Amino acid sequence: MKYPKEYLDEIKTRLKVSSVVSKVVTLKKRGKEFVGLSPFKNEKTPSFTVNDEKEFYHCFATSEHGNIFDFVMKTQNLRFGEAVKYLANMAGMQPYLFTKQDEEREKKWKEYLLIYSKYVDFYHNELLKNEKYSNAREYLKSRSLGKSEVKKFKIGFIEKNPVFFEKLKQEFSEKILLESGLFYFDEKKNIYVERFRGRLIFPINNISGQPIALGGRIIESLDYLAKYINSPETIFFKKGSNLYNLDLARKLSNKLDHIFLVEGYMDVVGLSKNGVENVVANLGTSLTDKQILILNQFFDDIIICFDGDESGYKAALRAAENSIKELRPEKQLSFLFLPNNEDPDSFVNKNGKNYFLEFSKKSKLPIHQFIFSHYKKQTGNDPSSLALFEKKLRSIANTIKDSFIKKYVLEYFLEKIAELTPHSNLNKKKFYIKKTKSLETTKKHFNESRSLTGVELKEFSLLYLIMNNLNLLQSNIFLIENIKLFTEINTKILAAIIFKLKTQEKISINDLNLDQQLLDKINKFAPIKYILKTKSKNDHQILEFLEDIKRDLVNYDLEFRIQELESKFSEDMSEATFNELKELKKEKNIN
Ligand code: UTP
Ligand code: MN
Repeated sequence: MKYPKEYLDEIKTRLKVSSVVSKVVTLKKRGKEFVGLSPFKNEKTPSFTVNDEKEFYHCFATSEHGNIFDFVMKTQNLRFGEAVKYLANMAGMQPYLFTKQDEEREKKWKEYLLIYSKYVDFYHNELLKNEKYSNAREYLKSRSLGKSEVKKFKIGFIEKNPVFFEKLKQEFSEKILLESGLFYFDEKKNIYVERFRGRLIFPINNISGQPIALGGRIIESLDYLAKYINSPETIFFKKGSNLYNLDLARKLSNKLDHIFLVEGYMDVVGLSKNGVENVVANLGTSLTDKQILILNQFFDDIIICFDGDESGYKAALRAAENSIKELRPEKQLSFLFLPNNEDPDSFVNKNGKNYFLEFSKKSKLPIHQFIFSHYKKQTGNDPSSLALFEKKLRSIANTIKDSFIKKYVLEYFLEKIAELTPHSNLNKKKFYIKKTKSLETTKKHFNESRSLTGVELKEFSLLYLIMNNLNLLQSNIFLIENIKLFTEINTKILAAIIFKLKTQEKISINDLNLDQQLLDKINKFAPIKYILKTKSKNDHQILEFLEDIKRDLVNYDLEFRIQELESKFSEDMSEATFNELKELKKEKNIN
């Protein structure tokens, strides 16, 4: 049911984000914002901020971000409607009364749930207790499944000639029973038929654990019957928006950050029996973006583990190309390929939990590596084949929605392609030892002078050093002639000093005629003064300091240009920009 925007807005107007959040997180005011310890991560220093004006919270540790509804949904594991009710109540508002249509839908939804729960309970009990169904129990035994798995997943069995429809008809209309998808009408025979007759049934639950659909497996192999069938889509069940076992698996998200995604019901049951319970299955259709987003609400790391056969590989490839779009910072998506002819169920039954987990740790491939290696395998060494290869990878990278991820995936692809070209010398890695910064002791002062940027402080150091060594630099003027500064005022001062040094003989600071306030500022904040003051330094040391500062300034310049190019690259994705960027990064490393 959709709430009208005005109603939601009224809740937002009445409740400040900080007052909703502070029910869970202790907040401290800092400027216009509040800060506190993130409820999404165990942390010691606060990285969680709340901004009432902008109506959102943001967690810098996990990138969680949202409004009051998101916050309540995430911290209390509620669905949107439940969060609205909770917040409306907190805001002193009446629960929203929906229109007649809404009410009808709500009524239908309740009936739908009731039908499914009665149906699932009934056939679950039959499987557990009815003497007649020893064949189904034997089948389960042959797959080494016992009572506890049957109970945990509420597996049921439906006989070949069931009569439960008649029972339900006493309580529900034929229309709603048909709409549930559990039955269909056979026009020839003029009867209602149970879709899952003669099958083991696996209830598919919504996120709150209520059954809303079924998967059903035959227990004897009959060529003319599909091995598995699923409920058809109904008004309340959309395949691409649900995952088998998500209701149980999501509860582990406070302990585990990863989830296994497998193909089949039996894979879920088999892994779970072996102690791997953070597992879900997509329901016999290809994986959707929506399913990835749902999983990412609970888990940062999705490991897709499809069967070790050709169709499993193809399904994985489809899943990879489809879900790379949704890749986001902080989230990982990888693929695990099992040995030939194994599926997760057979593999874990053979090798056990620990081996499975070890294997998964060792063998999983991040999504971009999988995609790269797949297309590389299909590519020859001739130019046209390579060109197609690069084109394909670029177009895949281009579908990624997050611009940062897009940039890095494309960089990865292009670097790897460059490695394939034999005459490129890109691979010859050099190791540049970066000199340690000499200004460590000035850190404390740095903090006091927060209002100044790092670049400004560096410029102050340069000016301070020059002004206190005017004679030395007059005779080495070429050393300071071509330094690029970033702030206008410091650039002017430097130019003025150089001009004086060139045109006058033997000068002192006073000859420079600098504004006293400016001089004071430089004298107060130039970090280098602490170093220069401690002991008298010889000319050689002074010039070394000068070189240090100059190198840092060049690096600032490179850094700014890199930042500029990176944002340009995430927009134009052009090779020229990429190459330029690579050159700059190399240059920065050398410095
Ligand atoms: P598999 O054929 O890999 O089955 O189908 P499985 O999970 O290994 O099952 P067992 O071990 O033989 O019992 C994987 C998934 O594909 C869908 C189902 O969702 C199944 O769980 N499927 C398969 C169908 O929808 N229809 C079919 O006929 C077969
Ligand atoms: Mn199987």
